[in-house]
Amino acid sequence: MQDVQAIVDRALAEFGRASDPAALENAKARYLGKNGELTAGLKSLAALAPEARRSAGAAINAAKQAIEDALEARRAALAHERMQARLAQEAFDVTLPGRGRGRGGVHPVIRTWQRVEALFRTIGFDVADGPEIETDWFNFTALNQPENHPARSMHDTFYVEGHDAAGMPLLLRTHTSPMQVRYARMHSAPIKVIAPGRTYRVDSDATHSPMFHQVEGLWIDEDVSFADLKGVYTDFLHRFFETEALEVRFRPSFFPFTEPSAEIDMRFASGPLKGRWLEISGSGQVHPNVVRNFGLDPERYIGFAFGSGLERLTMLRYGIDDLRLFFDGDLRFLSQFA
Ligand code: FA5
Ligand code: MG
Repeated sequence: MQDVQAIVDRALAEFGRASDPAALENAKARYLGKNGELTAGLKSLAALAPEARRSAGAAINAAKQAIEDALEARRAALAHERMQARLAQEAFDVTLPGRGRGRGGVHPVIRTWQRVEALFRTIGFDVADGPEIETDWFNFTALNQPENHPARSMHDTFYVEGHDAAGMPLLLRTHTSPMQVRYARMHSAPIKVIAPGRTYRVDSDATHSPMFHQVEGLWIDEDVSFADLKGVYTDFLHRFFETEALEVRFRPSFFPFTEPSAEIDMRFASGPLKGRWLEISGSGQVHPNVVRNFGLDPERYIGFAFGSGLERLTMLRYGIDDLRLFFDGDLRFLSQFA
């Protein structure tokens, strides 16, 4: 019979050289497997005398135990090495700054919308909302512009398919003024409301876009005058622009739904258009025919309305010369307001 200790020594040496689990399991088979060296030793015991068989058997069992222990130890060592290698490979530097997510911000025009709402709420105006697809009646007729009235051509209107119950065309509202009528017919006087929202016209240049935002204002009571319009609107501008050093003018104008009417202009205090005038709003004393369409008696109720461009207010506030920048979605521009 072979020298058992020599087998153990060889097995241990071979396990030590096995550099991965597959090599280790192959080496194991050579010693402990069915045709392994130690198994052959066990088979040869049968040929020995009982005394010799006992001592040789004990030696072989001790050797087997030693080899199994070495195998287990090597398996554990290889598994540990593998884990260490993986940890080293997947290591990351926890002290590096995080990648972070880009922070969003409120669009400058929406910021204006929010400021306008907040400012008018402080002086008791309600805030109302209404449809962007409007009927011909609310957008024009109720506002003292009968069918075929030439004033309708002041607005280049987007029409949409379909008709209202009276067979009249549907359109994208060209201004927020239909909200005057919608709101007044659903509330009782006195009426004090603003209605901000999207409006649409076939229009496009540096100060006009096909979709834009207006805020309508309406204050109707028994004694609201044109002087109140000037006072309320000027005070709004002072608070919106956070300064009283503004150049503002009320320029006589015409709207079918107000009489007298004025357009409100303001001068750029900064930016490439510094010193230039920009129209921000239409306004006027509500026409008696419109007060009647509110369902109110024009002999008793009187007041003012205005309709201001939110993009225009934003341009003046930040000194921006082209309102198309608001709609390009260029983050280099927009992130300056975030
Ligand atoms: C009107 O729309 C009237 N409804 C305003 C009004 C309301 C008058 C109540 C009297 C009483 P106007 O067409 O001028 O008026 O538009 C009002 C404001 O909307 C303009 O001063 C401007 O600031 C803005 N605006 C008009 N068209 C555009 C456009 N295409 N792009 C951006 N802003 C516009
Ligand atoms: Mg105008």
